[in-house]
Amino acid sequence: MKHTLLTLAALLCLLPAAADEGMWLPSLISERIDEMRAKGFRLTAEDIYSINRASMKDAVVLFDGGCTGELVSAEGLLLTNHHCGYDAIQRHSTVEHDYLTHGFWARSRAEELPNEGLNVRFLVRMEEVTDRLAAGETAEELIRAAEAEGKGYRASVEQMYYGNQQFLFVYRQFDDVRLVAAPPSSIGKFGGDTDNWIWPRHTGDFSVFRIYASKENEPAAYSPENVPYRPEKFFTISTRGVKEGDFTMIYGFPGNTQEYILSDAVRYIAERSDPAKIAIRDGRLEIIRRAQQSDPALRIHYASKQASIANAWKKWQGEVLGITRRGTVASKQAYEEAFDAWAQDKPEYAGVVGALKAEYARIMDPYFAREITAETLYALPARYTDKERAEEAFARSEAAERAQWEYLFGAYARYCPEQYQVPEFLRGVARCGSPEAYAAQLFEGVWSGADTTSMATLRGDAKRMLAHVTWLLGTKSLRNLTSSRLNELYTTYIKGLREWDRERAFYPDANLTLRVAYGSIAGYEYADGEYHKPQTTLDGIIAKDDPEIYDYDIPQRLRDLYASKEYGRWGTMIDGRRTVPVCFLASNHTTGGNSGSPVLNADGELVGINFDRTWRSTMSDIAFDPSICRNIAVDIRYVLFVIDRVGDAGYLLDEMKFGRKR
Ligand code: ARG
Ligand code: GLU
Repeated sequence: MKHTLLTLAALLCLLPAAADEGMWLPSLISERIDEMRAKGFRLTAEDIYSINRASMKDAVVLFDGGCTGELVSAEGLLLTNHHCGYDAIQRHSTVEHDYLTHGFWARSRAEELPNEGLNVRFLVRMEEVTDRLAAGETAEELIRAAEAEGKGYRASVEQMYYGNQQFLFVYRQFDDVRLVAAPPSSIGKFGGDTDNWIWPRHTGDFSVFRIYASKENEPAAYSPENVPYRPEKFFTISTRGVKEGDFTMIYGFPGNTQEYILSDAVRYIAERSDPAKIAIRDGRLEIIRRAQQSDPALRIHYASKQASIANAWKKWQGEVLGITRRGTVASKQAYEEAFDAWAQDKPEYAGVVGALKAEYARIMDPYFAREITAETLYALPARYTDKERAEEAFARSEAAERAQWEYLFGAYARYCPEQYQVPEFLRGVARCGSPEAYAAQLFEGVWSGADTTSMATLRGDAKRMLAHVTWLLGTKSLRNLTSSRLNELYTTYIKGLREWDRERAFYPDANLTLRVAYGSIAGYEYADGEYHKPQTTLDGIIAKDDPEIYDYDIPQRLRDLYASKEYGRWGTMIDGRRTVPVCFLASNHTTGGNSGSPVLNADGELVGINFDRTWRSTMSDIAFDPSICRNIAVDIRYVLFVIDRVGDAGYLLDEMKFGRKR
């Protein structure tokens, strides 16, 4: 009886289709449109996704394979996050022309900077192909046919609900994407790693690019002859602002969620995987931090690498905290027990939970070994490329590189379960006396270029070990806690869940395909009696401003503007004072990859650019909790204010389109 009560209580928290949970497939958005409209949305499903006419999807791009961007002019102008353009900005930066520090503003089209290897993709269409595949067509055939449809066409077949459904996605890729503008990092990365994943937030996390095309408006490799791309659709910008309760929608490319995994997997993440990876990165970040502080050239050299290592490192800490505080392992356990009880007399589902648990028990160690290898040995190069060697700061990075090698070899020895340690590694350690001495020896060869064979041999051996682990796991995936056996079991489990749990609003896990999330502008109770409002302002930036602290040292121009209150048309009354809005908080379900996504209002106008989540809500990749999960966006009015008043690049605004000021 007691047991039943507990289960019921846990169920009550999980059962109701949590208000703003979900990342929905655009082609099926008509199934959600009534609820969206009930929440205030004023447009139609066809406005969001259509294959017959221009729709919002034609103004959204997958940016650089891992972020989202949106079109804001008829001439291919695109907005994304500063941290999404970071790599490109770094590549154009030197100690003399330090665009990371000082920002970059192209004063004419001719000054817009090309970026080798950077591309954007538009979704042409998506369609379910489950039946066609079942009838014998192959994914390769479907992909090949779709890619032959036009210039720059790319296609892929993606699984939804662990293979219960298959979709074909057809994209058009553009390869000439140029940097137009970036604020100084003291705006674009204001608050740095200190404020990252945290609310209240004051980061102007945006950058501006432009897509170029051939004269026929088709995808083309970079050429000075190319012209600005004329998109089928771009977003109108609203400067009316947002207030608590307003409808918001996010359209973008969320990368990876695991909402349906068993409690066993959640426990593994919170108790084993995340803590180990956090600890390994602690030490690596410390080495990089010291190098960056000691030498301005190294500060630039490691900027992008440092940001990405630190980003996941901090995210995992929030994830562990969120999972622990919300008791996610226990509530998932209760949920799967209740399902299992229901499944007892249904042959198709009766043994599936037990089988899943057994499979997890079997694969946890080799899976962990795989994660540790990726985090250590595989984080190091078998050789440094000529391009890297040609970099200004390369020679100066020697000591910091060597230190990372020694450190990561040591970490591998400590964390990787012994039975999965690579034989070549064990031999090397025995020969040299310690993992560090072995690392130093291999590093000498790779650094000088005289001996890259030894490291290649080690990596080759590690690769064989990984192949062995892959065979054990039945999977290649580093990102998902899956094996082919697991995947089969999950196919059945999810099918069963959908039959059993009729109240729950099921949506497929994020997999870097285009999704719609909707919710509203919302604050939240941070702690007992402590409510966090959903909007920050320039006043908050000034309050944090401190020339002594790198992350909070704002440009003088911003101080001057604050002092003179020359906010121009961007000044707004908020809580009885005239200021400039900076960031806002909403209840949309987002994840990594949603960075740069357009935040749209009830009329489909652009009101912000998504860039983050609050710390504890990083657990939403595993379990979305409507009471604490919030996404963070930069208010479009702050973006425009910075372009106009800080960058003096108001001419960019001339090609944008603004909605009615009501
Ligand atoms: N947390 C955000 C994301 O996951 C922003 C990261 C960039 N900022 C930083 N300080 N590293 O991408
Ligand atoms: N900053 C993340 C990104 O790069 C988005 C934040 C999140 O994970 O929600 O996509």
